[in-house]
Amino acid sequence: MNIHTYEKIWLGAAMVLIVGFIATITYGAVGPGIAMVDDDGGDITPSEINDDERFAEPGVEHVGGNEYEVAVVAQAWSYSPEQIEVPANSEVTFYVTSRDVTHSFSVVGTNVNTMVIPGQVSEMTVRFDDPGEYGILCNEYCGERHHTMEGLLTVVPEDEFDLTELDVEAPDEVEAGNETTINATVSDGMQTDLETTVTLEIGDQQYEEDVTIEGAGSESAEFAVDTDELGAGDHDWTVTVDDESESGTLTVVDGNGGSDGGDGDA
Ligand code: CUA
Repeated sequence: MNIHTYEKIWLGAAMVLIVGFIATITYGAVGPGIAMVDDDGGDITPSEINDDERFAEPGVEHVGGNEYEVAVVAQAWSYSPEQIEVPANSEVTFYVTSRDVTHSFSVVGTNVNTMVIPGQVSEMTVRFDDPGEYGILCNEYCGERHHTMEGLLTVVPEDEFDLTELDVEAPDEVEAGNETTINATVSDGMQTDLETTVTLEIGDQQYEEDVTIEGAGSESAEFAVDTDELGAGDHDWTVTVDDESESGTLTVVDGNGGSDGGDGDA
């Protein structure tokens, strides 16, 4: 059988293309790790997102070693949380779901790009080796303010990252002569132990207390403040731990019914 020369060239070119397509797909899957986002993340009822363990308080969670999990809820027209911070040299698994309509979750400059479908949880794992900033965009048209739906992912140097949170309870007003306490609760979101110092500055007084938190948990520091030493008046206070701080004002009123403070007590 005689095959025309041009026919042979076309056959050869078609074979090269087919082999080329298979090679690029194989390289994409094995090399850069491009994969279809499937239903591995599971199902969720959109109306029950607020009762879900993972999505009720979306955000970053340390799961051990250099591994982190980030839960994100997409809704018209924002992400919760809008700002995500993870450390460099981390392996981050995103779990994303939608409260209402179909959105997308695309971390610009990475291979994180998925549709976010109500009822489903999209799961993707990415490594972040170097510090940097990545925009997060919705690229699935979702309504009139679709173009405003964005977020920011910041990869910070490892030694600048922590998941420490501070919560302070302090009275607004206290009578002079009474001792009062300011309570600081420090929560450590990392699975590793945290040893740190909580400081309270009020007026020209300074207090310090060391706290040790084993694993993820919280500890309280209690500061007994001497109001006699502070004297009557407004005193600004600041509680600081690591990079977190909280401020307020404590008013010490004259117990003997000062003329400017008393408003008609018996
Ligand atoms: Cu959400 Cu577009």
